Amino acid sequence: MNTSSSLPIPRLSRLARRLAGYWAPPRVVDFWASRISPAWSWDRPLARVVGHRRESSHAFSLLLQPNRLWDGFRPGQHLHVGAEINGTRVSRSYSLTETPRADGRLAITVKAIEGGRLSQHLCHATRIGDVLEIGPAFGDMVFPDTVDSPWLFLAGGSGITPLIAMTRELAARGMPVPLTLLYWVRHRDDRCFVDELRALATRYPNFRVHFFLTRNVAAAGDEGEGHLSDVPWTSLVPDLQARQVYACGPDGFVQSARAETASQARSFHAEAFTPPAFDFDDQGSVRITLAASQQTVSVPRGTALLTALEAAGITPASGCRMGICNTCACGKRSGATRNLRTGELEHEPVSALRLCISSASSDLVLEL
Ligand SMILES: Cc1cc2nc3c(=O)[nH]c(=O)nc-3n(C[C@H](O)[C@H](O)[C@H](O)COP(=O)(O)OP(=O)(O)OC[C@H]3O[C@@H](n4cnc5c(N)ncnc54)[C@H](O)[C@@H]3O)c2cc1C
Ligand code: FES
Repeated sequence: MNTSSSLPIPRLSRLARRLAGYWAPPRVVDFWASRISPAWSWDRPLARVVGHRRESSHAFSLLLQPNRLWDGFRPGQHLHVGAEINGTRVSRSYSLTETPRADGRLAITVKAIEGGRLSQHLCHATRIGDVLEIGPAFGDMVFPDTVDSPWLFLAGGSGITPLIAMTRELAARGMPVPLTLLYWVRHRDDRCFVDELRALATRYPNFRVHFFLTRNVAAAGDEGEGHLSDVPWTSLVPDLQARQVYACGPDGFVQSARAETASQARSFHAEAFTPPAFDFDDQGSVRITLAASQQTVSVPRGTALLTALEAAGITPASGCRMGICNTCACGKRSGATRNLRTGELEHEPVSALRLCISSASSDLVLEL
């Protein structure tokens, strides 16, 4: 990876920080401290980009040096990454792809989505030395405390990212249990980490990797064609009943993985990168009153409140945008909302409505 050595991050002593805190609020301290080092902050985890390299036809890996406020992670987890794009702060979730490192650095691998705001920015406009906002690690699909039975990893596209971190962790431990990784992409050039995965397969006899191409013809011994439903399970993973399955990718991929393996495997764990497609017949518009900021906006029914408020120029805090991280949670004082994942209507006031997976079904008052 193209890297730069990390610049020293100034550390004020605890006493100096306390004294400074009496005189100036954190944002003011941040402003002046950032003149000395852009990655220094009083209270916000930030990370400096210290490496940027192409990983596939559309994906790039970024190596990040976090400041002292970053708390660490377990392989399999994700974090929020934020940047200011054309004057607006945009934040999305990305999986951590390395195992925890002695130098504290983190890595993410981002696929540039066509028309995507942050992914295009991270892949094509971010430079070494830039500073990004980061959030704490989150996610329940993590490397377990005990590794005691064979594993099967199913990766769909960008879903390889948490699974490469877990593969690297197993390799760092000497591959103590058999691991098979089945990895789907459309085209051969879309694959990430190919050389590394093949090298691991050569080094560890109990690690197997198989690449499935849905739009190219298979040409190598470790390549196949087709979708999850085309897998010859009995020949490719004959001991499926003994395997713990970890699946990651778009929602449709995770649903297929569940349908194909969950009932037969020893256990099934999954995380989707995209929300389920929903299709409710909610039409017309409603009025949303934002109690804290004393604004009223009109938004369409049936659209996720987060998306609808953003379209109206209001930018509530957000992260995963699919109901996992709770960053967008806010109170609802009155009105009816629909949970877009389950379709259920909610009429009662709640203290933590997730804006990214709720739509308005009537006029609402939110604590925003
Ligand atoms: C827990 C979690 C972990 C994730 N980890 C990674 C990761 O390691 N690497 C990675 O590249 N992405 C990852 N993602 C997806 C990432 O958070 C963003 O959704 C993605 O980068 C697109 O953001 P954007 O701002 O570029 O697109 P937006 O501006 O939000 O969207 C632009 C268009 O692209 C569509 N779109 C949004 N996301 C996707 C997607 N993932 N695939 C296809 N179309 C999409 C939208 O519907 C919209 O039409 C993860 C998501 C979650 C929830
Ligand atoms: S943004 Fe993560 S739960 Fe809504």
